[in-house]
Amino acid sequence: MSFLEVRGLRAGYGAATDVLHEVDLDVPQGAAVGVIGANGAGKSSLLRVLAGLQSARGGAVRLDGSDLPAEGAAARVRRGVVLLPEGHRVIRKLTVEENLRLAAVSTWPRGVKARLATTLPTVYELFPILHERRKQLAGLLSGGEQQMLSIGRALVSQPRLLLLDEPSLGLAPVVIDRIYESLGRLKQTGLSMLLVEQDYARLNRLCDQMHVLRLGSVTLSSTGALTDERAIRAAYFGREDAAGSTNFNTTLSKE
Ligand SMILES: Nc1ncnc2c1ncn2[C@@H]1O[C@H](COP(=O)(O)OP(=O)(O)OP(=O)(O)O)[C@@H](O)[C@H]1O
Ligand SMILES: [Mg+2]
Repeated sequence: MSFLEVRGLRAGYGAATDVLHEVDLDVPQGAAVGVIGANGAGKSSLLRVLAGLQSARGGAVRLDGSDLPAEGAAARVRRGVVLLPEGHRVIRKLTVEENLRLAAVSTWPRGVKARLATTLPTVYELFPILHERRKQLAGLLSGGEQQMLSIGRALVSQPRLLLLDEPSLGLAPVVIDRIYESLGRLKQTGLSMLLVEQDYARLNRLCDQMHVLRLGSVTLSSTGALTDERAIRAAYFGREDAAGSTNFNTTLSKE
């Protein structure tokens, strides 16, 4: 039994449009699982459904052996399912520390003080720059620092399963390295993670399992890194245009 079990998950928007078709996926306890896919593949939809922000149309999601009912996002956070949304989401007019405190308070209206006493130092140890800037307005942070704060906000909710939606989006390669180094350290603490990205290079290094999502279906899965570039290309773009795609090297560059 995996920590997270997703079986036959279907989701969509509007009357007729399904954007996830019978998705099966597992995240073993303490593992990092990566999903890559092009724009519109359904990556954010998948994470949003798992986070309870969007309802499923079918299938089952089990966490630690028990079904996650169709409950709201706040209840799922308290069950330990925490989403790092796409783009850096910080409250620009609050300080760094206020951002962290608010994230904790919204998860744990009671007993938050004791939780912050353990979680704040963990976040500051992981990202010392946030400690240095803790009195500064979040809106003044660089993009990379905002992403660190965004991860910090997720961590103060004390996740058991962290869902990360394109943590590298819009960041410089050196900053992405820094973020991924931190994710590696989080993994070492035993945190289970499900990450989606457009590019597989960094996920390959971090993740124990990888999947390719295309048009709402898992088209390729691997234990360990994705390596067969031909197969990845076919799964990512679809067989019909796999050979001729010129996009591959820009969106899926292996550095
Ligand atoms: N609120 C919405 N209403 C209707 N359709 C939507 C909505 N959000 C997403 N979609 C559609 O669902 C499909 C999957 O979108 P999703 O955002 O999950 O893809 P993604 O893989 O995260 O893409 P990206 O890499 O661009 O973030 C797309 O066809 C998209 O147009
Ligand atoms: Mg997305």
